[in-house]
Amino acid sequence: MNTDQAKSLMEGFCKVCPVCNGKACAGEVPGMGGTGSGTSFVANIEALSAVRLKMRVLHCTSLPTTATELLGMKLSMPIMAAPIGGVSFNMSKKMSEEDYVEAIINGCCAEGTVGCTGDGVPSYIHQTAFEAIKKASGHGIPFIKPWDDQMFFDKIDAAQKAGTQVIGIDIDAIGLGTVNLMGASIPLRGPAEMEKLLAKIPLKVILKGIMDAEEAETAVAIGADAIVVSNHGGRVLDGTKGTAEVLPDIAARINGRVPILVDGGIRSGSDVLKMLALGADAVLIGRPLGISVFCDQENGVREYLQGIHKQLVQSMLLTGCKDIKSINKSVIDF
Ligand SMILES: Cc1cc2nc3c(=O)[nH]c(=O)nc-3n(C[C@H](O)[C@H](O)[C@H](O)COP(=O)(O)O)c2cc1C
Repeated sequence: MNTDQAKSLMEGFCKVCPVCNGKACAGEVPGMGGTGSGTSFVANIEALSAVRLKMRVLHCTSLPTTATELLGMKLSMPIMAAPIGGVSFNMSKKMSEEDYVEAIINGCCAEGTVGCTGDGVPSYIHQTAFEAIKKASGHGIPFIKPWDDQMFFDKIDAAQKAGTQVIGIDIDAIGLGTVNLMGASIPLRGPAEMEKLLAKIPLKVILKGIMDAEEAETAVAIGADAIVVSNHGGRVLDGTKGTAEVLPDIAARINGRVPILVDGGIRSGSDVLKMLALGADAVLIGRPLGISVFCDQENGVREYLQGIHKQLVQSMLLTGCKDIKSINKSVIDF
């Protein structure tokens, strides 16, 4: 990975630390950090690092396979790019939103997985995202913020025209400082209003920003097709638990009714394995994949995904998991 190039392009926004752990960038939102003291970002890293794997080496008779299926999409691995928007005020002034988003969408597509895209103010963020997804024949998942109905459904229409079958809504964007800083606001909706909103969307919907089992239950009851256990990379509320801490309760409550995605602090193949063992069906990776774009655009994304895929295979081999379905909590050393 050409991290020197990333350091130079991201100067003033991201230090491209050897391990992306939220310490050097605490409080930098806008920027790459976690909000406030940065503890929610750090908690994601620490929660994962507290999980220990049980090594078992007399199980696999061939190299483990990582193919999986999610919401009708066939994936080469249960790893996707998390939605990231606002390159010019979060990441770098030296790369356009368009170049960034195309690298994510095309790099993920080339490795047999899917890239998600972000949304925000100004409007070129979602417009360039939809354009990139359209150019990739609909191969991408746009995440849209829960704006007021008019703006929200205009974006849903545009996303549908771009050819996507699945959209995400980052419901935790009600707490996002960057939206408020730009003078915009997101209406507050209780479960009944959100259910009405979801009922009108002609696509599969992933609700992102779930950190509580009760809320996960509500998300399923109001019609979510999948959820993302996420604290937005620690960018919305200071002082939350790490996602790996809340995931087991949420997975127990959902009990397979809808797929569960998770993000926050996933930095290696063994982190991916831990999240799957704790109950996730797939993971999203944010900052490290974002930084890989600044290393070498689409090739950087591909190289990052190839590396973490190799690590996942190795971790599965050493814990006796022959495929994604066979990963469960028995690989965790409690
Ligand atoms: C700079 C930046 C911008 C982001 N923009 C969005 C966005 O537009 N929509 C969204 O749902 N999440 C957004 N996120 C959150 C990520 O999708 C994801 O939840 C988080 O980065 C995962 O944690 P990780 O970076 O530790 O992997 C953003 C995160 C960062 C760092």
